[in-house]
Amino acid sequence: MQIPTRKMNDGNEIPVIGLGTGGMKGSDGAATITSAIHNGYRLIDSAYNYENEGTVGEAVRRISVAREDLFITSKLPGRYHHYKDAVKTIQESLYRANLDYYDLYLIHWPNPKQGHYVEAWQALIDAKKWGLIRSIGVSNFLPEHMEHLEKETGVLPSINQIELHPFFNQAEQRKWHEKHDVITESWSPLARANDVFENKTIQAIAKKHRKSAGQIILRWHYQINAVSIPRSSSPIRQKENISIFDFKLDQNDMEILASLTKPEGRINGQHPAEYEEF
Ligand SMILES: NC(=O)c1ccc[n+]([C@@H]2O[C@H](COP(=O)([O-])OP(=O)(O)OC[C@H]3O[C@@H](n4cnc5c(N)ncnc54)[C@H](OP(=O)(O)O)[C@@H]3O)[C@@H](O)[C@H]2O)c1
Repeated sequence: MQIPTRKMNDGNEIPVIGLGTGGMKGSDGAATITSAIHNGYRLIDSAYNYENEGTVGEAVRRISVAREDLFITSKLPGRYHHYKDAVKTIQESLYRANLDYYDLYLIHWPNPKQGHYVEAWQALIDAKKWGLIRSIGVSNFLPEHMEHLEKETGVLPSINQIELHPFFNQAEQRKWHEKHDVITESWSPLARANDVFENKTIQAIAKKHRKSAGQIILRWHYQINAVSIPRSSSPIRQKENISIFDFKLDQNDMEILASLTKPEGRINGQHPAEYEEF
C-alpha cells in the first residue's frame, strides 16, 4: 500500500494519512506502531507530552523500512516555549527517539496567555537550519497566531494540526490555510470514536460505497485536502483506515458530510484562544 504525499510550502512531502499515537507507550505501543509501519504507514505522529518518543524510536529500530522513507513528527510542549528551553527540548526529543532528525516538529499549543510562542517558533526555525528538523509547523494555532509568527519572523508554518472531524469541520480556518499555503492536518479525525460510527448519515454513505464509516470519514479528510492521523491499536482497523484510495465521494456526499458540523463541535471544548497546555 503506497500512501500518496502532498508537497508542503518548504518543498518537502508529507504522506496524506498517518498514525496517531496518543497513549501508545511501552512494549504494547512499540508493537502497535511496528504493525502500522508493516501495514504501510509512513507518517507517525508523536509528541513530547505523549511521553512516547522513545516508543516511536523503538518501532523505527524494529522495522526494516529506511529512515528516509518514514515521516516522524513530534511536538514542543507549552512549558518549554522560551527560546533556550525550546532548543533543548527539540534536542531531548531527538535523544529520546534516538533519531538524528524529525521530519516535522510542531508547537503543540499556542498558549497565547503565556505569550511566548514566537520565541518557540524562532527555536524551530533555527533547529531547521541546524538540520535537526526537516519541516516546521504548529498545532492548534488560530489565524491571528500564525499572522503574528509571520510578522515577527517572516516564516509561516508548513502545517497546522487542528481538531477536525465531521462534527467540527473548521471551514473558515481551512480557507485561511489554503490561502496562505499552510497544510491542514486533522487531529482526532475520527472524533475519537464519539458517535461517528453510529451516525446514520455517515452509515448511509458508507453503505452506498460499500465502505466502512471510518473509511468514509478518512476519505472525506483526504478530499478536503487535510492530512489525517487516525489512531488505531488494531492491525485490522489500521489497514482499513488507509484503504481509502480506491473510491471517491461525490459532491452530494461531500455536502451531506459538511452539514454535520456543529459550532460547539469540539470534543472537549479546547478553544485555542483560551485553552492552555503545558
Ligand atoms: N495536536 C493536538 O493537540 C492533538 C490532540 C489530540 C490528538 N492528537 C493526535 O491525533 C491523533 C488521533 O486522534 P485521537 O487519538 O484523539 O482519536 P481518533 O484517531 O479520532 O480516534 C481514535 C479512536 O477511534 C477508534 N478507531 C480507529 N479506527 C477505527 C475504525 N476504522 N473503526 C472503528 N473505530 C476506530 C480507535 O479504537 P481502536 O484503537 O480500538 O481501533 C480509537 O478509540 C492522536 O493519537 C494524536 O497523535 C493531537
